[in-house]
Amino acid sequence: MTSIPKAAVLGKPIAHSRSPLIHGYWLKEQGLAGEYNRREVEPGALAETFRALRAEGYRGFNVTVPHKEEAFAACDEASEAARIAGAVNTVWFEGDRIIGDNTDGTGFMAHLDQTHPGWDAGVRRILLLGAGGAARGLVVPLLNRKPEALVFSNRSAEKAGHLATTFRPVSDETRTSVATWGMWNDLLPETDLVINTTSLGMKGQPALDLDVTRLPEHAVVADIVYVPLETPLLGAAKQRGLRTLDGLGMLLHQAVPGFAAWFGVRPAVTEGLRRHILADLRA
Ligand code: ATR
Repeated sequence: MTSIPKAAVLGKPIAHSRSPLIHGYWLKEQGLAGEYNRREVEPGALAETFRALRAEGYRGFNVTVPHKEEAFAACDEASEAARIAGAVNTVWFEGDRIIGDNTDGTGFMAHLDQTHPGWDAGVRRILLLGAGGAARGLVVPLLNRKPEALVFSNRSAEKAGHLATTFRPVSDETRTSVATWGMWNDLLPETDLVINTTSLGMKGQPALDLDVTRLPEHAVVADIVYVPLETPLLGAAKQRGLRTLDGLGMLLHQAVPGFAAWFGVRPAVTEGLRRHILADLRA
């Protein structure tokens, strides 16, 4: 077994994953001997791949589409965030045990706190658009900031309703409710944070049609889409003079706990890292 610590991202397809660039940047920055690779894995083969790569000296993995739920099932122990999401994106080993975490929610919050410190002072209403895996991972970190109201809205309304009922018992300080998709105008004047977790605004997809001029001046508009970095939603919010949050920061921050677990150093998300990944996105 080699003494160089190794980690990898597992998914299918995997060629476009930016994770090797992020971790490669940090390994160099920290002057650490280590490797971070990408491996294409077939659905159904994840547990077996964990075992085989571990025998080759791997300390853990990032797991991406379509394997996050399978990774959850393959772990011996999962963090609260992973259990809530039913999905794992970061894996490491402790003794004989496989431990899984889901770092998307904390990554999003770290990015938000770092970019707009104090955004949550007196937060009244948060509007969460979308009800897929990404939205689900954000609910508890958002409720922890104790907004007065968390409003779910999704094209398929029953999925938004399901999130609202599932998470209602988690906080007695926040009202959870559902807004019909597209019917946001009356809500926006008292909304402090809007988060788009749908694929609308992504390259090749239609834009999200939300009238940012109705938001208050202090509002933050966040998108988890990062190709393009400035989605039409963020462009309109910027033009209106609102604070914005792009999707790249979440991608960078969600990578921090894995690097710390595998390589023993907690890295920082810096402008240098951002520029490094942006250069690749532009290429
Ligand atoms: P992720 O894990 O990134 O959240 P996902 O689980 O596939 O991905 O969820 C995609 C989200 O984008 C869903 O909320 C989806 O809405 P539906 O539940 O109605 O499918 C939303 N979405 C995708 N395309 C959309 C579109 N054209 N209009 C509105 N919402 C869309």
